[in-house]
Amino acid sequence: MEESVRRVWAALDREAARLSGITIADLFAVDPDRVTAMVVDAGDLRVDFSRQRLDAGALKVLLALAEATELADKRTAMFAGLPINATEQRAVLHTALRAPAGTRIEVDGVDVVADVHRTLDRMARLVEEVRASGIRTVVNIGIGGSNLGPAMAALALAPFATTGIDARFVSNVDPADLAACLADLDPRTTAIVVSSKTFTTQETMANARSAINWLSAGLGLDPEATAAARVYAVSSNVAAAGAFGVPAEHVLPMWDWVGGRFSLASAIGFSLMCSIGADNFREMLAGMHAIDRHFVEAPLEGNVPVLMGLVGILNRNGYGYGSRAVIPYLQQLGRFPAYLQQLEMESNGKRSDIEGNSVERHTSPVVWGEPGTNGQHAFFQLLHQGTDIIPVDFIGARRSTAVGLADDDIASQHQKLMSNLFAQAAALAFGAPTATDNPNALGEHRAFPGNRPSTTILFDALTPSTLGQLIALYEHATFVQGVVWGINSFDQWGVELGKVLANSVLAHIADTAAPTTLDPATLAAVSWLNA
Ligand code: F6P
Repeated sequence: MEESVRRVWAALDREAARLSGITIADLFAVDPDRVTAMVVDAGDLRVDFSRQRLDAGALKVLLALAEATELADKRTAMFAGLPINATEQRAVLHTALRAPAGTRIEVDGVDVVADVHRTLDRMARLVEEVRASGIRTVVNIGIGGSNLGPAMAALALAPFATTGIDARFVSNVDPADLAACLADLDPRTTAIVVSSKTFTTQETMANARSAINWLSAGLGLDPEATAAARVYAVSSNVAAAGAFGVPAEHVLPMWDWVGGRFSLASAIGFSLMCSIGADNFREMLAGMHAIDRHFVEAPLEGNVPVLMGLVGILNRNGYGYGSRAVIPYLQQLGRFPAYLQQLEMESNGKRSDIEGNSVERHTSPVVWGEPGTNGQHAFFQLLHQGTDIIPVDFIGARRSTAVGLADDDIASQHQKLMSNLFAQAAALAFGAPTATDNPNALGEHRAFPGNRPSTTILFDALTPSTLGQLIALYEHATFVQGVVWGINSFDQWGVELGKVLANSVLAHIADTAAPTTLDPATLAAVSWLNA
């Protein structure tokens, strides 16, 4: 780390130490206008940082950290398609996936935005073909970024599923996942979408083969004819998809410059588009693009992804909080925490900086969460009174998009939902010294310390556009943190060892007599399995 950057980090440590003696309640007491100053809009998102342990002094140092680590230049490099994924020598251009037609971004002399729009048009045509052929369910087979984004979004946008095609998602190599998905499906109206950037991922290829066998048995066709008729593929390894038997007209490309966890806006979103239709999908892209523009254009001090990333730095590095909870008060965002786990932890769970030196500061916190209000009746005890402080991101909407119940019931339940969100954020921030009903009863047991930080993100309703905005907001906040930590947020070498070992273990399960370098504990476990 450069000395000049180290000095700003030291200043941040001093700010955190200073603020350690000041509570969130104190911050509100000294600055009654705090909410006005600390609620910042990006597109249709209203983001409230006022319940963070942050004041103008700390913010100034955080912004200085962004400048010292050259955030603005690195952002420009990313949007321009420079190979900022240094360990893989790749551009990082998920923002090109939602750039309007006519924008020119080149990688190796190729206009990638033109490719993106050609592919979007092909996706839209294929959705129509799938529908016209009588298919009523597409089963997306993929894992990690080839599952979490589209699965999360399909659930989030269920009220916008207008095509009559149901999208289902299978990821785990556990056969129970595929079996449960297929159990009530009719092979005559089912198609498979194999989503895999590499087209080599063990889990996906195994599930794809089993699904094709299930389809061919149901249709009375051989597996080759089944693949030709009913299998679609999304991959940057188009040759492998072809070799697998998927006809060229069913193969949608993606590109090296899209990371798996940033790929929802690419053809990896095909199954999602099958369910919500091309217009809604394009609306989601427009929402993402609106936040891309905000990220590029807003000054750093009013730039929401920048502020979100920097607040995360303060919590992780200034205060040493090792975990962050994401609690959407929207049941349809039930998979959003899992989606963010990959986005943030696979991007920023790194111990080497971009030059290959050990980092000097902690990197990604553990990210986790569940929808409210369910979480309140499970783990909120620890959030309020546990010995660890866990910052929370609360997410909520002004209006419910639920359908099928009486309007009044939806409205009144939604009010209860939102009152819980606001109450939890207040209780965490301000606490309560003793039980309000009877101060003598159980004293400390019933005291809430408060001073537990949170950010609240609000919008009008969960639509394709606001979902797109929310996703882009977190993507860019993740990028900001990677820049400040000086790491490459776009590789994932840490997943490789387990994949290699799993292949060695599999080979040993099949042939225990063959020579192996597996450790004694693993060998004993394999003997137990084979017994
Ligand atoms: O193992 C991690 C990973 O490489 C993720 O980064 C990726 O999203 C996932 O596996 C799936 O990879 P693929 O799309 O190539 O099957």
